[in-house]
Amino acid sequence: MRLIRAKDYQDASRKVANIISAQVILKPDCVLGLATGSSPVGAYQQMIKWCDKGDVDFSQTKTVNLDEYVGLAADHDQSYAYFMRKNFFDGINIDQKNTNLPNGLELDAAKECARYDKVIADLGGVDLQLLGIGANGHIGFNEPAEQFSVGTNRVDLTASTIAANSRFFENESMVPRQAYTMGMMAIMQAKRIVMIATGANKAQAVYDAFCGPVTPQMPASILQLHPDFVLVADEEALSLVGDKL
Ligand code: GLP
Repeated sequence: MRLIRAKDYQDASRKVANIISAQVILKPDCVLGLATGSSPVGAYQQMIKWCDKGDVDFSQTKTVNLDEYVGLAADHDQSYAYFMRKNFFDGINIDQKNTNLPNGLELDAAKECARYDKVIADLGGVDLQLLGIGANGHIGFNEPAEQFSVGTNRVDLTASTIAANSRFFENESMVPRQAYTMGMMAIMQAKRIVMIATGANKAQAVYDAFCGPVTPQMPASILQLHPDFVLVADEEALSLVGDKL
């Protein structure tokens, strides 16, 4: 893995935006794997500005998102489909037909997971996958478990993830209890993976994931095995790592 040290959230966001933009410039019809959460928002805002200026062109770019809440329609204001439109897609010149997310309204999990895996396979896999990291080490919604997931799967969210994500909902009881998430196979098959981790509340997860053993109890630790994994992290997120990476 490679570590890129950033000063703070803004610095990390600009660095990640530069890496993603370079990918789109080098291969305009690339497949970007995208993430939600607060972590990538700064990078999305930066790319919207560059797209406005004509520096980067998303007109041929395709995207697959990591995850979606089960039970939320794409127009629900807490769905990840809505999040992506509001925070990124509506601000860039992407063809919305080229954007893909799991369908939270499909209650037949086997059918939806197979459909989404086929979407990813038909696109030829992911060129560049962007990731955040949950405070418990989850990537996408792949929560700590006995085994690593393989394909797209429907997961029960852990109590800590429900609590962490409740800040976006009126109250904790409104947070969906399940989500569809891309599995580790599609994530690990991405040609390049970039993770953005910032803030003191990610320090323990970053330390455990990248300075500890590879274990499904710390899902992000699997990224240690990826041949082209880049971690962009700020000083606070690296406070426990020190010089170990
Ligand atoms: C969410 C998402 C993840 C994200 C993580 C961290 O639950 N499913 O993809 O990386 O939690 O979120 P944040 O960036 O807001 O800390």
